[in-house]
Amino acid sequence: VSEPQNFYDEVGGAPTFEKIVSRFYEEVAKDDVLRPMYPEEDLGPAEARLRMFLEQYWGGPRTYSELRGHPRLRMRHMPFKIGPVERDAWLRCMRIAVDEAGLDDAHRDQLWQYLQYAAMSMMNSDF
Ligand code: HEM
Repeated sequence: VSEPQNFYDEVGGAPTFEKIVSRFYEEVAKDDVLRPMYPEEDLGPAEARLRMFLEQYWGGPRTYSELRGHPRLRMRHMPFKIGPVERDAWLRCMRIAVDEAGLDDAHRDQLWQYLQYAAMSMMNSDF
């Protein structure tokens, strides 16, 4: 999927992505399905990786790839069992974060469509 290069700027750049991803991880920290999946005690580094990835995907700085190389996200998620329960938990947290970010309807819908699709494509288990 290719997205317009200016989405990042249109939604307010770095502060907007910071807001969405930090709100997302606030929910992850409280989620009984997701929290145990994260290998590190400190969610900060995972938060930074997701934020940098999303910024890059939507046309912002390419810091994610400078630090992490090619995303290969499906492969990077293979160590974690991601079935319908995990996908729904992830989307539940993300829904809150996106809804609270104050985007206009068109940008919010575009972002949400992508996140739903991406979450589905990260699944590696039927249960
Ligand atoms: C990493 C869970 C979907 C982007 C991770 C990690 C876990 C995880 C446990 C390891 C934490 C870390 O060390 O970074 C899940 C679950 C999902 C999901 C349960 C449910 C569908 C997604 C989606 C995206 C995404 C849809 C992108 C739109 C990332 C990124 C990383 C990551 C960028 C860090 C990769 C790296 O190592 O550079 N995820 N994830 N995840 N996830 Fe997910």
